[in-house]
Amino acid sequence: MKIIMLGAPGAGKGTQAKKIAAKYGIPHISTGDIFRANIKEGTELGRKAKEYMDQGLLVPDELTCDLVVDRISQPDASNGYVLDGFPRTIPQAEALTKALEARGEKIDYAIDVTVPDENIVSRMSGRRACLKCGATYHLVYNPPKKEGVCDNCGAELVLRDDDKPETVQKRLNVYHAQTQPLIDYYSKAGVLFSVDGTQDIDKVFADIVAKLG
Ligand code: AP5
Ligand code: MG
Ligand code: ZN
Repeated sequence: MKIIMLGAPGAGKGTQAKKIAAKYGIPHISTGDIFRANIKEGTELGRKAKEYMDQGLLVPDELTCDLVVDRISQPDASNGYVLDGFPRTIPQAEALTKALEARGEKIDYAIDVTVPDENIVSRMSGRRACLKCGATYHLVYNPPKKEGVCDNCGAELVLRDDDKPETVQKRLNVYHAQTQPLIDYYSKAGVLFSVDGTQDIDKVFADIVAKLG
């Protein structure tokens, strides 16, 4: 099963993608997590990506597309995957479609997690992230068992550099301008469905599972 998560920053793409990956036994591939891991390790890719991410801007397509095409070609992705945060522009979607077509494959589902902008800024200020394994928590809606510590891997939880309210607003603007057109793109491809992302985390997941079967 090949799945794409669509939705605004903070809509809950990562939260749901992790649950989908666990239930269906497929890898969760988040471009944001890959960039953050590279930043943490101080790689050249990380250095370049950080310049854009800290400003709430998208990392250029040329740094992103090959990385994803390479990742979905790994053996663990042979039965499918859930892509979170990619594609995010029409050129990225076209590059993905082309790479899949070359192997006679296609995306099965694009899931749009819908949350109004008003809810997003408050959600982000309460988010805590694990930069080691990519797990995401919320101080109120999804707290870790032990404050400040990742349940999965024991690493320290942090507030992401791009979760400051002014940067969140900029990310929302970028989302509406560059990523929202993908809803139409995948709707035309006949693979899109939407879920109401303002419900609690387990209810959103139940709605997704009902559609995926
Ligand atoms: P990325 O890491 O993908 O960030 P994003 O799209 O802005 O989305 P987030 O990770 O912030 O939110 P999410 O939807 O995953 O929500 P989450 O589950 O954490 O990208 C970061 C940056 O990297 C980009 O700005 C860009 O610069 C760059 N980048 C990445 N991919 C790129 C690409 N393809 N091309 C170019 N640049 C790229 O949930 C949010 C919070 O809410 C959490 O605290 C969570 O616990 C809580 N929560 C989740 N669901 C619920 C719920 N139902 N009710 C209450 N709280 C909830
Ligand atoms: Mg995320
Ligand atoms: Zn962790």
